[in-house]
Amino acid sequence: MIPALRLGNGSQLPAVGLGMWKTDRSQVADLVKTAVDVGYRHFDCACDYGNEQQVGQGLKLALQSAACQREDLWITSKLWNTYHAAEHVRQACEKTLDDLGLDYLDLYLVHFPIATRFVPFEDRYPPEWFFDPESPNPKIEYAPVSIEETWRAMEQLVESGLVKNIGVCNFNCQLLRELLTWATTRPSVLQIESHPQLTQEKLIRFCGQEDIAVTAFSPLGAESYYSLNMAEENESVLRQPVIREIAAAVGRTPGQVVLRWGVQRGTSIVPKTARVERLEENLAIFDFELTKEQMEKISALNLNRRFNDPGQFCEAAFNTFFPIYE
Ligand SMILES: NC(=O)c1ccc[n+]([C@@H]2O[C@H](COP(=O)([O-])OP(=O)(O)OC[C@H]3O[C@@H](n4cnc5c(N)ncnc54)[C@H](OP(=O)(O)O)[C@@H]3O)[C@@H](O)[C@H]2O)c1
Repeated sequence: MIPALRLGNGSQLPAVGLGMWKTDRSQVADLVKTAVDVGYRHFDCACDYGNEQQVGQGLKLALQSAACQREDLWITSKLWNTYHAAEHVRQACEKTLDDLGLDYLDLYLVHFPIATRFVPFEDRYPPEWFFDPESPNPKIEYAPVSIEETWRAMEQLVESGLVKNIGVCNFNCQLLRELLTWATTRPSVLQIESHPQLTQEKLIRFCGQEDIAVTAFSPLGAESYYSLNMAEENESVLRQPVIREIAAAVGRTPGQVVLRWGVQRGTSIVPKTARVERLEENLAIFDFELTKEQMEKISALNLNRRFNDPGQFCEAAFNTFFPIYE
C-alpha cells in the first residue's frame, strides 16, 4: 500500500505517481499496465505529453485484468495553454477523458499560468507551444485570458462531475493568493518543480498553511533535462557525495534517497521512468526512513536551480521570450 495525502475534501492522493512526460507512445500502454501490477495507482498525465490514448490503453488492460478498480486509481491530467478560454476548457477536458477512456478525472490541473492562442482540436493535437509551426518564423502567441476566466470554467468541471479535484501547476505564492481571494472551489493541489536543488520551502510552507497539497515534479532534478539540453550532467543530484553517502548508509540507491526525501517532507512525487526495474525501485521508498540530520543535509543541497523555466526554454526552443516567475 502506498501512503496518501489527504486533501481538504477527503480525497486521498497517493504519495507516489508515475510521471508520463516524454515516455514514448510505443511503450506507454505496457508500461502503465506493468506499473499497476507493480503497485502504482497514481498516474500523472497531460494533453501536452501526447500519449493519453496510450495511457488509456494501459489503464484499460489493467482494469480488464481486474488488477484494480477505477476507484482505486488516481488519474491526473492537465489543461494545456491553448485551452484557457472558458469555451475551450470543457472541450479540452472531454478530449482528455475520451483519450484516457475514463468518465472522470481525479485531478485536473492548469498546466501553466500561461494562456496561448487557441489552436482548433482538429488542426493539431496536442498543439504544443508554437501557434503555427509551419510559418517561416514560428512563435508562441500569447492570448489575453485571465486566470479567473479559466478557473471559473475549471470549477464548472467539478460541478458537472467530470473531475473530482482541480488545481494548478507552476503558480507562485502571489498567484495562488490572488486566486484564493475569489475562487469558489479552492485548488486542492499545486504541482511544482521541486527536488534537493530546488527545495521551494516558502512556497510549500504557504501551501501547508492554505491546506493545498503539493506535488513535486521532476523530483530527480536534472535527470529529466539532459536530453533536452536544459541541464548538464555535472548538475546531477544523484551524483552528489552527500546523496551517495546517505544511500550507502541506508542501503538504497541515490534515486530512492532523493525520492524518499521528497515524500518524507510531505509532498507527493511523480517520478517518471520508462524502465520496468525502476518502476519498482521508485516505489520502494516506504520501508525506510531518513534521519532528521540526513533530511537536513539533503535540503542543504538547495541551489534554487530551476530546470523547467519558461523564461529560458521558450526562448531557446520556441523562439519567444516568455518569462513567468520574474
Ligand atoms: N506540471 C508541469 O509543468 C510538469 C513539468 C515537468 C514534469 N511534470 C510531471 O512530472 C513527472 C516527473 O518529472 P520528470 O519526468 O521531468 O523528471 P523525473 O521523474 O525527476 O526524472 C525522470 C528521469 O530520471 C530517470 N530516472 C527515473 N528513475 C530513476 C532512478 N531511480 N535513478 C536514476 N534515474 C532515474 C528517467 O530515466 P528512465 O526513463 O530511463 O528511467 C528520466 O530520465 C513528469 O513525467 C510529468 O508527469 C510536470
